Amino acid sequence: MLELLKLLQDGRFHSGEALGAHLGISRSAVWKQLQGLEAELGIGVFKVPGRGYRLSSPMVLLDAERLSRETALLQWPIFVETSVDSTNAEIFRRLDAGVKAPFVLLAERQMAGRGRRGRAWVSPFAENLYCSLVLRVDGGMSQVEALSLTVGLAVAKTLQDSGLGDVGLKWPNDVLCAGHKISGILLELAGDPADVCHVVIGIGINVNMMIDATIAIDQPWTSVRQCIGRMVDRNELAVRLLLQLRECLSRHWQGGFASLRDEWEALHAWRGRNVALTAGNNATLGTVVGVDERGAIRLSVEGVEHAFSGGELSLRLQHDS
Ligand code: BTN
Repeated sequence: MLELLKLLQDGRFHSGEALGAHLGISRSAVWKQLQGLEAELGIGVFKVPGRGYRLSSPMVLLDAERLSRETALLQWPIFVETSVDSTNAEIFRRLDAGVKAPFVLLAERQMAGRGRRGRAWVSPFAENLYCSLVLRVDGGMSQVEALSLTVGLAVAKTLQDSGLGDVGLKWPNDVLCAGHKISGILLELAGDPADVCHVVIGIGINVNMMIDATIAIDQPWTSVRQCIGRMVDRNELAVRLLLQLRECLSRHWQGGFASLRDEWEALHAWRGRNVALTAGNNATLGTVVGVDERGAIRLSVEGVEHAFSGGELSLRLQHDS
């Protein structure tokens, strides 16, 4: 089905006969696959007698060969899948099957994309980037401290390099554009922290997804397309992202988050805002002062500064902020 989609992605008309000849299958097999595109992937296909078939709107699919070529200097093997439950989950399975880190896995869609704190990540076909990178961690758990903030910074820089203005970071690792969430990051650990351990860095970026009543996201969100007013080639964005990730990760391994903190703070969207920091049912009210060298959030609570960290914490603005 993916091969058929590749032929159709230009949005032009293709006759059933030509498609069949390209794929070495009969016209009725082409017809069956076209129905699959609609039913399984939700892709609209127009059929016009005498002209053939075309997609309701053109798309640019992820191109594994191009991604590998344009990021060759990173020496991160790249896998591209049509559909997975979650790119993070798929990486865990491949590690278990003996695939050696580092490697990158991208998917055209996720059927069970994972967000932080057990939430789902909306992942429609060929609209956005769903990308996970796995790295072996040799230097102990201190290496992964504040790593998610570093990854957030890499994503923010990638978006700025792609022409987006008003990019901001919300602690710990949401990336915002004009105050709306455009990217989320989920770090997961595999293995024994005292022994061989891997960190899976999952990044979701809303790229070409448009606000639409069928998309159920429970917070204000945006996409690259909505911010810059045109469709974006996800391959180009993915290459930029991987190169920027490498750059920021190298700095993190060498100097820790401390060496990136000033750049992070320069994009800190909620500094000075009144927030509620929640952990389960407990909320702490305070004013955001900044982040510290270990990536903890600094809040002024009744005039006294405290630093908070932990994966289950989440921040929201107070109504008066
Ligand atoms: C968040 O809640 O903000 C984190 C979202 C992380 C989504 C990405 S998409 C690629 C990777 N695979 C997943 O299942 N989740 C992450």
